[in-house]
Amino acid sequence: MTNSDSAPIGILTVSDRASRGEYEDRGGPAIRQYLEEVLTTTWRAVRLIISDDQAEIEDALKRLADQENCSLIVTTGGTGPAVRDVTPEATAAVCDKMMPGFGELMRKVSLEKVPTAILSRQTAGIRGQSLIVNLPGQPKAIGECLDAVFPAIPYCIDLIGGPFWETNPERIVAFRPRKK
Ligand code: MTE
Repeated sequence: MTNSDSAPIGILTVSDRASRGEYEDRGGPAIRQYLEEVLTTTWRAVRLIISDDQAEIEDALKRLADQENCSLIVTTGGTGPAVRDVTPEATAAVCDKMMPGFGELMRKVSLEKVPTAILSRQTAGIRGQSLIVNLPGQPKAIGECLDAVFPAIPYCIDLIGGPFWETNPERIVAFRPRKK
């Protein structure tokens, strides 16, 4: 499989300080490492680091979905209550339909780890043939959240017309309901 055949996955870090280089981006690399451990399908990362600006986030999501053809776009950061936290708003603005179950489940599992999990407004949605999933900025939240929702992601990608993704079953078992 050549590089052009590999499935592009968008990894979008949303952080004023990381985008200015004042802070090392730890969320993006944590997402990449997670996907390397879990996916056995050949894929490649399309990584962007941008500020907490709604128009900039919307432009980045549109580029990853429409030009880079990412079936999955994972964002990190900007999901909280602070004035500059607008990743969920940008996600909703570019999506055709929202997938609220992702946020509900990620908050549920995160609450078992940290009481401030309720401060994340993380959500997910579909734009065309792309699934966009928001994660909090805290690097340790990435595995906690993705472990909960990843079993449903390959089937979601099937349903929106994306490629057939396979996972390492020792890490994540992709659940696909049997056809009747
Ligand atoms: N979820 C998990 N699993 N682990 C965490 O450490 N941090 C919480 C919450 N969700 C956290 C979490 C905190 S403290 C905040 S403020 C919100 O995510 C929003 O974080 P963000 O603005 O960096 O996206």
